[in-house]
Amino acid sequence: MEKRIIAIGSDHGGVNLKGTIKKFLEWKGFEAVDLGTFDNASCDYPDYAKKVCDAVNGGEAECGILVCGTGIGMSMAANKIKGIRAAHVTDTYSARMTKEHNNANVICLGERITGCDLALEIVGAYLDAEFQGGRHQNRIDKFMAFETV
Ligand code: RB5
Repeated sequence: MEKRIIAIGSDHGGVNLKGTIKKFLEWKGFEAVDLGTFDNASCDYPDYAKKVCDAVNGGEAECGILVCGTGIGMSMAANKIKGIRAAHVTDTYSARMTKEHNNANVICLGERITGCDLALEIVGAYLDAEFQGGRHQNRIDKFMAFETV
């Protein structure tokens, strides 16, 4: 079976958790495409949100995982990009549901908010979940149409 490819990115506030997520993804058999940042030097989270979202929109990755200090800036930036449905998640139930119901193609986590073990459970719950389609697709179609207004 082909490896599932996940794009990951962070700013300096999320770089440690991103590294842990990368190892976790590889251990689970995924290919993690790490689009930076790669050190603790201060940088701007929108730059990395853009890199990861472009990889998702371009089909180079099936989905993206973004990490900043809170996860909030990343989710705000990612949701400005056409085609992206980014969910800021802090619990496993939401991580599963945002795939099943919202077909989120990006999740955002906060290194300063969510502990490492929980963050990995969140990532696992999201990646194991499947979009349910049906009425949920209708609802997604409605809000995705907001992009063109
Ligand atoms: C960086 O200090 C911090 O503002 C950023 O990582 C993020 O939390 C923004 O939402």
